[in-house]
Amino acid sequence: MELKVNIERLRKDLESLRTIGRVSTGGVSRTSYSAADLQARRWYVDRCADAGIEVFVDGLGNMVAQDSKESSDQAPVWSGSHIDSVPNGGHLDGALGAVAALECLRRLIEAKVPLNRPVRAVVFTDEEGNYEHLLGSSGLARGFTSEQLEGMEGRDNDRLVDRLDELGWDLDAATRTRIDHGEIHAFVELHIEQGPKLEATGTDIGVVTSIVGLSGGKVEFEGKPDHAGTTPMRQRKDALLASAEFLTTLPGIAASISDHSVITCGLITVEPGGANVVPGTARLTLDFRDPDADRLRALAAGIAGSAAEVAARHEVGLKWLPDTFIEPVPLDPGIRELIIASVKQLGLSHIDIPSGAGHDSQNIAWLAPTAMVFVPSKGGRSHSPAEDTAWGDIENGANVLLATLLALASREADRPAHPFTAQQTRRTMELINPSEGVGNACTN
Ligand code: GLV
Ligand code: MN
Ligand code: MN
Repeated sequence: MELKVNIERLRKDLESLRTIGRVSTGGVSRTSYSAADLQARRWYVDRCADAGIEVFVDGLGNMVAQDSKESSDQAPVWSGSHIDSVPNGGHLDGALGAVAALECLRRLIEAKVPLNRPVRAVVFTDEEGNYEHLLGSSGLARGFTSEQLEGMEGRDNDRLVDRLDELGWDLDAATRTRIDHGEIHAFVELHIEQGPKLEATGTDIGVVTSIVGLSGGKVEFEGKPDHAGTTPMRQRKDALLASAEFLTTLPGIAASISDHSVITCGLITVEPGGANVVPGTARLTLDFRDPDADRLRALAAGIAGSAAEVAARHEVGLKWLPDTFIEPVPLDPGIRELIIASVKQLGLSHIDIPSGAGHDSQNIAWLAPTAMVFVPSKGGRSHSPAEDTAWGDIENGANVLLATLLALASREADRPAHPFTAQQTRRTMELINPSEGVGNACTN
């Protein structure tokens, strides 16, 4: 009989996780490194402990869970996603892939399935970019210098390094968070579609072909705070007015590059922030995406040019703090074939689908062959409390994930394993915050 996930246990876990950071709208707010995010991390470590699984945590807080009896020195197969959320987001974006990967690992352990290489479950830090989009997986794929980390600011304009310090985490360990090619054999991420195609076509599973390229950053217009009643209109240096004009240029910039280009400003903060004060400073977050790397760069150039032009016209200062460029990636054809074989074996339907959302997979794809499985989103809704997926679809997706992981972990080594795989992973996964119960010490 085919191995299947325990859907009751998976459902119970997802329902339990959604109570952490739950808000009155029914959505969840678990922005990265918030109290709710830390509580969710503790919840995850406890679920692992219940199943005899140990968790290694790196300097950015990425968590890697493995069978405590794991003995193979072959490069592991990784699966997972994230458990942070956008403010007032849905309960499945990230959580589904993170908890389903843990469920797959539990099933493989309890069914004592003999494997040629280990399967590990992963939770990446700050996928939603409270401080930096795909922070944890970007660290694993490329690493960050201490200067880069010091420049990162969160939604509340707090600095990442101050938050890490407050938590007692070690900045040096954060800069050492990086792994090499060959340390992972393959990566598979299960995720909700976050769009309408699967539901509209009545399809069970989306086999993701590629992930959009993305970047963003923070734009700051610096004017002069002044009295709203006494400062003549012509003498003002109104930072918010400059921002407003800049924002109106964005749709034209996107349209001039491609039909697939998108630019979003999701957050504006104004200082000093009084109804009767001319805004002195306005800070805007920007997110921009395109499936093509050159067009993504053209978008960045267009945005920077427009901000400079508007700032000059309004005679206000300008700061531009760009995020890392995350390149668009095609996903691995070999793993996509394994996913399709699993879909067929389970008697399900599938279509190929590109991802307009960003995912940690697009970073891990630089380290190892990577693929993604999508399940339908009701009404195509996501980044909203309305986000939902039928339990039957969740079960299908988790079973496709399990069958695919089993196929990958049963594969004979078809490329030489990295000679230091086990040790290297342990060296990069360091102890943080033992008092919080997040992580285990590792000595080698
Ligand atoms: C992640 O959800 C993203 O696409 O921003
Ligand atoms: Mn998201
Ligand atoms: Mn996500």
